[in-house]
Amino acid sequence: MKKHILVIPGDGIGPEVTTWGKAVLEKIAEQFGHQFTYDKGLMGHVAIEATGEPLPEETLDKAKNSDAILFGAVGHAKYDNDPSARVRPEQGLLKIRKELGLYANLRPIMLFDELLDASSLKPEILKGTDILFFRELTGDVYFGEKKRSEDRRTASDLMIYHRYEIERIALKAFEAARVRSKRLCSVDKANVLESSRLWREVVQDMAKEYPDVDTEHMFIDNAAMQLVKNPKKFDVVLTANLFGDILTDEASQIAGSMGMLASASIGDGTGFFEPIHGSAHDIAGQDKANPLASILSVALMLEISFGLTDEARKITSAIDKTLKDGYRTGDIADTKTDPAKILGTKAMGQKVLEFLS
Ligand code: NAD
Ligand code: IPM
Ligand code: MN
Repeated sequence: MKKHILVIPGDGIGPEVTTWGKAVLEKIAEQFGHQFTYDKGLMGHVAIEATGEPLPEETLDKAKNSDAILFGAVGHAKYDNDPSARVRPEQGLLKIRKELGLYANLRPIMLFDELLDASSLKPEILKGTDILFFRELTGDVYFGEKKRSEDRRTASDLMIYHRYEIERIALKAFEAARVRSKRLCSVDKANVLESSRLWREVVQDMAKEYPDVDTEHMFIDNAAMQLVKNPKKFDVVLTANLFGDILTDEASQIAGSMGMLASASIGDGTGFFEPIHGSAHDIAGQDKANPLASILSVALMLEISFGLTDEARKITSAIDKTLKDGYRTGDIADTKTDPAKILGTKAMGQKVLEFLS
């Protein structure tokens, strides 16, 4: 198979982890006889430094002309601590999501049995958890009108949803529920928010078309609690942009770490694959970042964008073997881990490549 892949490493640990996602892609291509070609794009702080723009036109053009995109992370401490900065790295990510029509963000909570003790939650609560989040990605308070009063003392972000935006993400979630365990939980705040009441109305209407799917509605505050109380309760979770952002960072602790969660952003055209984590300034440049979320993002790319399920399975099985052999990065190590098997980013990436051979 011939495919052209754009790699956007971004900032902080983005380039450190994306190196290994790409190395795994190259290895898979070699093993299965695929011809993958690559290009590189700038986005985030590195792009602002080079061009003044968080998403240069050139990167967007390259993105539109590729078959899939592998992304790292954007963000820089300089902007996090400067609320007045007008140009910000994260704007690049939001713009590319909007421009590419990436309205569905799939975030699987895939729990490797070997990591049951890596979580801060009890193993017996976690075992058997398998959740697929559908986070709406191009609407909500993220993209509603933003305002600041002239005296700068009042600010607002409009939380807005149109019916078609809810329908198209809900359709993907219902279809997924149908081929999984036929359970769907839609999370909203319909007891307070008008946009959530529209959300619930649309999902209720669509549920009538899916009588085989057991559809439940839950308020976000309760869902955040149930997720750590009894995560097995959930299978497909459908939710809005902001709620999905927060719930999935919380859910990363089920899988052991932020460094374990991959995601696929899909919609109208080219698919975009990225870890759910950010640029992690606290560990950037120290060879400490877990590269497995980036490697798992590559597995999602192969499966979802290219339909290469054997190749994707080979990657998850290589990760499984690496973990079974006791290798860990610091974020997923626990008291039982052999200190000699706690690896840096590079050594962990190399181990996965070895287990792929
Ligand atoms: P973060 O996800 O970068 O980090 C949160 C915590 O998780 C940190 O303690 C970090 O060390 C740890 N962590 C994250 N990824 C890890 C990995 N692969 N291996 C080991 N540990 C890992 O979130 P934050 O600290 O809130 O944000 C930092 C910057 O990243 C901000 O500028 C933010 O805007 C940006 N951000 C970007 C994205 C993205 O590009 N998709 C996502 C989230 C945050
Ligand atoms: C994510 C991030 C982004 C989001 C930010 C960096 C814009 O937190 O991808 O989860 O909130 O969507
Ligand atoms: Mn996030």
